[in-house]
Amino acid sequence: MNAVEVESALADLAESPYDQAQFPFQFLEAFGNKKASIDRLRKSSGSDVEGGVLLKGDVHVAICEPLTTITKLTELRESPATKKLKAKFLVATDGIRIDAEDLVSGEVISCDFKELPDRFGFFLPLAGITTMREIKESPIDVRATGRLNKLYMALLDINPEWGSPSRQGDMNHFMARLIFSFFAEDTNIFAGEAAFTRTIDMMSAPDGSNTHEVIEAIFKAMNVRHAIRPILDPRLPTWADAFPYVNGGLFSGSTEVPRFNRTAKSFLIRAGELDWKMINPDIFGSMIQAVANADERSNLGMHYTSVPNILKVLNPLFLDDLRAQLEAAGHNGLKLLNLRKRLARIRVFDPACGSANFLVIAYKQLREIEAVINQRRSEQHLPTVIPLTNFRGIEINSFSAEIARLSLIITEFQCDVLYRGQQDAITEFLPLQNENWIVCGNALRLDWLQICPPSGTASKIISNDLFDGAHEQSEIDFSNTGGETYICGNPPYIGDKKQNSSQRHEMMTLFSHRCSQWRSLDYVAGWFIKASDYCKSSGASSAFVSTNSICQGQQASLIWPLIFNAGGFITFAYPNFKWQNLAAKNAGVTVVIVGISNNPPKVRKIYREGQEGSIIIQDCANINAYLLPGESIEVVKSRTPISDVSPMTLGNVPYDGGNLLLSSSDVESLNLTSAQKTKFIKRFHGSAEFIRGIDRYCLWIMDSDLDEALSIPSIAARIDRTRRMRLSSTDEGTRAMGLRAHQMRETNICNDRVIVVPRVSSENRPFLPVGLADNNSVIGDKNYAIYDAPLWNMALIASKLHWVWVGTVCVRMRTDFSYGSTIGWNTFPVPTLTENNKEDLTRCAEDILLAREQHFPKSIADLYDPETMPENLRQAHERNDEVIERIYIGRRFKNDSERLEKLFDLYTKMTKAPKTVTPGTRAKRATT
Ligand SMILES: C[S@@+](CC[C@H](N)C(=O)[O-])C[C@H]1O[C@@H](n2cnc3c(N)ncnc32)[C@H](O)[C@@H]1O
Repeated sequence: MNAVEVESALADLAESPYDQAQFPFQFLEAFGNKKASIDRLRKSSGSDVEGGVLLKGDVHVAICEPLTTITKLTELRESPATKKLKAKFLVATDGIRIDAEDLVSGEVISCDFKELPDRFGFFLPLAGITTMREIKESPIDVRATGRLNKLYMALLDINPEWGSPSRQGDMNHFMARLIFSFFAEDTNIFAGEAAFTRTIDMMSAPDGSNTHEVIEAIFKAMNVRHAIRPILDPRLPTWADAFPYVNGGLFSGSTEVPRFNRTAKSFLIRAGELDWKMINPDIFGSMIQAVANADERSNLGMHYTSVPNILKVLNPLFLDDLRAQLEAAGHNGLKLLNLRKRLARIRVFDPACGSANFLVIAYKQLREIEAVINQRRSEQHLPTVIPLTNFRGIEINSFSAEIARLSLIITEFQCDVLYRGQQDAITEFLPLQNENWIVCGNALRLDWLQICPPSGTASKIISNDLFDGAHEQSEIDFSNTGGETYICGNPPYIGDKKQNSSQRHEMMTLFSHRCSQWRSLDYVAGWFIKASDYCKSSGASSAFVSTNSICQGQQASLIWPLIFNAGGFITFAYPNFKWQNLAAKNAGVTVVIVGISNNPPKVRKIYREGQEGSIIIQDCANINAYLLPGESIEVVKSRTPISDVSPMTLGNVPYDGGNLLLSSSDVESLNLTSAQKTKFIKRFHGSAEFIRGIDRYCLWIMDSDLDEALSIPSIAARIDRTRRMRLSSTDEGTRAMGLRAHQMRETNICNDRVIVVPRVSSENRPFLPVGLADNNSVIGDKNYAIYDAPLWNMALIASKLHWVWVGTVCVRMRTDFSYGSTIGWNTFPVPTLTENNKEDLTRCAEDILLAREQHFPKSIADLYDPETMPENLRQAHERNDEVIERIYIGRRFKNDSERLEKLFDLYTKMTKAPKTVTPGTRAKRATT
């Protein structure tokens, strides 16, 4: 269930007549619990409290006599069943009041039964949704989204043609007008009798058959100045004449309204009944976007970027500096005046603005600073000097772009009310400016310098008109010349594989002349390079939220040299942190924030999240592509190890069409003698086999044994199928392998033992799942292998140091590590190891293996589950890390940042200095 559905279900529950006997079950239903579970509870309540029903691991809910909810809640809290069945929530109600407690957070609520939907945020964990403070404190945004969604869906049902691509613009436009009207009637922008919702309710038939005509008349009125209404629209009804002239493009163009029925009309009235003046344009705007997007609708109310996260971008980008200037100005009138002049000339530009949440927050923050200036100068009466039109955006989705502009208009009004008073705000609000400064278009195709020129006042916007559809977008100039420009936002992250052909084309246009491996870049890199170009030519600064992949592995070594070589620097950074919104699928996206500029400050700042939401700031002279303090160096693939370690190779590629690889039953069905089995069958380790201990086998035939193998019909048949499969390939190399169809592409095997490193491993495991296999094992290409090497190599791979190195320089697949020998192992900087060091490390590796053996037959996956990792194994790794880290710095590292700083420092030195390899330390690789 999503947040909107929970709110809606609780609203239905609060509005329907209270049925004591049914309430506990209705309450459980409201949170999407399965009917079968509820039916079971009807038979046996699971509760030891009178009137109680207890859903295991979930909620203990009880009904009670009037005025006894508090006592009942205590009874629920003290009930042994609550503890035994691990209830997380307690709810007691008498149908008039409701008392509830979240046993996990310790929060309690006590409210009227009818207020249940207002408190839906409290109950969201019952639907599996981790709540966010803003949502809890501002349910209006979720409610408004929910109600408009119902209306939207009902209207599409009645008017299916309005859902077609050709009418999408009309539908978007209609919704934007509705939202504006709801807001205007609750904020007295529509004065006195011009109550939008009430007028529709009164003037249209109960079955909604003429609702569209009533709304059309109101919209028409708002498109025409009062003075010329009798001439332009003589048939306008008098009740519509009460509505003010609004326009600003919002009510121009077609005023056609979709048809309504009784249900749609009631949804509209219910949406209008909300108190829209409380709406938060940044939250509501983000949520409402999903209404017009069929794929996103199931996540309604869940996509939402919190204000603290937006401020992580805006504060270091420019707000901190403005606040410092405000602080320094104190009550000095001239300094305050200068700061106000500075505010008037700041341009904020979000080239993937969605519903403009970054722009809204930026605008609000500037207004807050201006209000302090005005208050210190005793000039609270002055209108704002901060032009809304200095907050510019590009957005590809037309509905979001409409909402973006509306969000900014509403924000401006709310700030005027807050800082100047309702009267002034209303007087100056209408008519809306007939201009448009949110461009609906593709940011990677548009020229940012034209849309948001960094100097002068003139700007040329070439794009579709937001409100007038086909017409040219009106060009709107900046109010103040010069000033500063800040680019910000949260552009889309689409990995290199998921880009559609148009997106790939955009990336090619932007990058193909700059770097040959541009295909490996995430789509978000397009925004970084355009921001870099813009900053270079304008002196602007920029900061984006981005997938962390662009500061890792190959991507880091591709994009950042382009930006650094163009004179850009990383001015501040938030390395990896979880970017949360309420969307279930998006709960774990790891992002970074990176600020860039061609005029960087002397001190650059790295922000990290500390304990309990605190932020730790590290000052440094330079920030590199991996968001670490230190020289701007990129780790690039190396064909051989830069350190004196053993060579690692990819496992053997079968290319067998499933014929050389065998399950246990396949082996049995070959009908081999035990001597033949010993000769021709080996264990095969893919990564799942290795990590989860799954049995798999393969045919392993030396050239010298081929005749004997072919004399066994079951083996000959498999070789024949492999040959035919290879020979039918269009690839020349594969066809050539058809001539030796008894073998895999590689024929690598160890004489004694092999160190195995799976290519992909979950980030949740605290160590890389490295292990050993014997000489009866074949290592497949889902693993890397170090054949017949000294065991201290394994100690290095199993270390925390290697884990953080790989996590930084290797590519990731989602949050999993994707190990690469050329980028992860060959680049791993290891100080020169003495014989003593090697002995110590060998012992550490043996201890890890011994610790694992004590838990035989547990697999690596079982052993390295972070929740259940055995203590002796953990300790063996601790000792290993202790020994390794002492080799690096003579003590344990304090944290991963310190580990990475040391590794990068060493890498820089090792790749600059000529490499010396002590002869004879590498083991020879054995092949058949
Ligand atoms: C991750 S969202 C961020 C929006 C908003 N700042 C927020 O936090 O909700 C990215 C936005 O970029 C828009 N977008 C995607 N591709 C675009 C393009 N090529 N040009 C302009 N906008 C684009 C999407 O429609 C979406 O609104």
